[in-house]
Amino acid sequence: MSSGNADTVKGIVLAGGTGSRLFPLTKVTNKHLLPVGRKPMIYYPIEKLVEAGITEILIVTGTEHMGDVVGLLGSGKDFGCRFTYKVQDEAGGIAQALGLAENFIGGSKMCVILGDNIFEDSIAAGVASFRSAQPAAGSIGCAHLFLKPVEDPQRFGVATVVPGPDGGPAGGRITRIVEKPAQPESDLAVTGIYMYGPEVFEIVRTLRPSGRGELEISDVNQNYVERGTLGYSLFGGWWTDAGTFESLAHANVLVGG
Ligand code: G1P
Repeated sequence: MSSGNADTVKGIVLAGGTGSRLFPLTKVTNKHLLPVGRKPMIYYPIEKLVEAGITEILIVTGTEHMGDVVGLLGSGKDFGCRFTYKVQDEAGGIAQALGLAENFIGGSKMCVILGDNIFEDSIAAGVASFRSAQPAAGSIGCAHLFLKPVEDPQRFGVATVVPGPDGGPAGGRITRIVEKPAQPESDLAVTGIYMYGPEVFEIVRTLRPSGRGELEISDVNQNYVERGTLGYSLFGGWWTDAGTFESLAHANVLVGG
């Protein structure tokens, strides 16, 4: 049994939501069970966590298809990890789903992946350095995002950054995050891969629903921006979400199905 200490990184795969943008593909199943290449979509984020040495993984999904998700994934032994499952009663946003993970996480750090994010880069090095990172004195914790330059940043959370001393991400930080801005300040999309310390649950408790009635993950990230403790890495390889017909088709091409 892994302990919930500060040098452990546990995984969380968020696989809830209604999948409304993919209707009717999602009428009788969960978006994250749809095929991408030769595998169900949710296999990809799970395999990225396991490759990064994360073996305690929480799967959060809605009530409608939890049975199918458990039937597909099982205990985790086929993936070399151990799954815990948690139900999100209604789709209340990514940050609300994250809040459900508090007991599972205990005092650990965590790597959260949106179940429809599919990407080429390994996150192993990023996870390893986050595992050993110590928050600065006086700060309650730090967080780390993976960013990807894209041609259509208006579709995503968009980050403004101050690079580190050598002009790259090392030692740099994110200074602003705007969710789906009409006029993006940069081309750096916030991907759905987030690393937080256990203090994130205190932040989630302070959130208020956005205009679309959800607890927004961008508001969580903005809280770290305001503390000056939001680091970042850049993905060099391809990255996509798979939540629309266009991006799902693109994901199939990228994985070389
Ligand atoms: C969500 C986040 C957004 C992020 C994106 C990545 O958007 O709110 O910041 O860039 O995931 O996949 P959604 O897919 O819910 O529109």
